Amino acid sequence: MKIALLAGDGIGPEIVAQAERVLLYFKQEGLKIELEPGLLGGCAVDATGKPFPEATRKLSVEADAILLGAVGGIQYDNLPREKRPEQGLLAIRKTLGLFANLRPIVLYPELVNASTLKPEIVTGLDILIVRELTGDIYFGKPRGIEYRDGQKVGFNTMIYSESEIRRIAHVAFQAARRRSGRLCSVDKMNVLECTQLWRDVVTETAQSYPDVTLSHMLVDNAAMQLVRNPKQFDVIVTGNMFGDILSDEASMLTGSIGMLPSASLDDRNRGLYEPIHGSAPDIAGKNIANPLATILSAAMMLRYSFNEETAASRIESAVQKTLKQGYRTEDIYETGLRRTGTVEMGDMVLANLQSQ
Ligand code: NAD
Ligand code: IPM
Ligand code: MN
Repeated sequence: MKIALLAGDGIGPEIVAQAERVLLYFKQEGLKIELEPGLLGGCAVDATGKPFPEATRKLSVEADAILLGAVGGIQYDNLPREKRPEQGLLAIRKTLGLFANLRPIVLYPELVNASTLKPEIVTGLDILIVRELTGDIYFGKPRGIEYRDGQKVGFNTMIYSESEIRRIAHVAFQAARRRSGRLCSVDKMNVLECTQLWRDVVTETAQSYPDVTLSHMLVDNAAMQLVRNPKQFDVIVTGNMFGDILSDEASMLTGSIGMLPSASLDDRNRGLYEPIHGSAPDIAGKNIANPLATILSAAMMLRYSFNEETAASRIESAVQKTLKQGYRTEDIYETGLRRTGTVEMGDMVLANLQSQ
């Protein structure tokens, strides 16, 4: 099994290094994996002039799975759009057809006080956000900035086809079926035609899943309900942009965005795995970034791409034990616990894996 490692920019290399150590631990235990590094994002622009160079495209297409850190940085903010690091990320998702982005929002009980919400609101929280990842206003055309009537206008197109909505709806219904049987679809159908179609197609797809209870919610209300009473949700399915925003919001319910992993899958469960956060330029190079979201993304990879459920659960248990022992990076630190750096967090997860 070949795994492409695309560390990216900012804290990317620091957090991917810790997840790599975890994967190498399983290799040494006999798991047949090969890790191969590649360039994506700003580091690829620096080396080749392109955010998603041909060599990376080839590596990604050939790999069985991809582990990604994060891309982006202020030094790239003035580049033309097609050269921005983020374009590399969007291109790899589109090229590989990774339309289903699974973002589990799980609160480890040890972090209940790291959440900004009251313990009774978040205790036991376990939501799955299913975000469509290769459509919507992110990719719609026409798009641009141009002169109209003597001034500049900026425009983008929110667009979804029936088939794009249907395939992500199936993923979400199937996930809901494996969990509590409740699915909430989030849209803005009171204003946007595109999301009226979204609601219509999701409703139609529900006919194939009589065992799943479907509800609908407008996105502004959903953003509010996520902090009012997040435990009302089980699986949420939504479009690319709403899913991006709601999942960052939901991350704080679990203590930190540094805790949340994700899987981006195609129609055959081939996947790219990455934390939901970005390259965090404000803390890059200081050994303070939380590597757990990336380590947990490696666990998702073992589960979804390689069917290694035992290894995946072992990683999750090792992470939980590390938290139980009181090790905390800055973002989840609480008085009295052990302030821990990025590398030391990796050390502890590895030690806890070894002692299982
Ligand atoms: P961000 O997620 O990088 O950071 C937001 C805040 O969360 C910052 O204060 C950061 O320090 C903190 N944070 C993020 N990850 C953390 C971690 N693992 N441990 C501790 N703290 C963490 O979002 P941003 O600041 O809006 O974006 C920075 C850059 O990242 C931009 O260039 C953006 O385009 C890019 N970005 C990339 C991805 C990706 O590669 N998947 C995702 C989001 C943003
Ligand atoms: C994410 C990021 C990306 C997105 C950006 C960097 C293109 O925010 O993975 O959540 O918006 O999808
Ligand atoms: Mn995002």
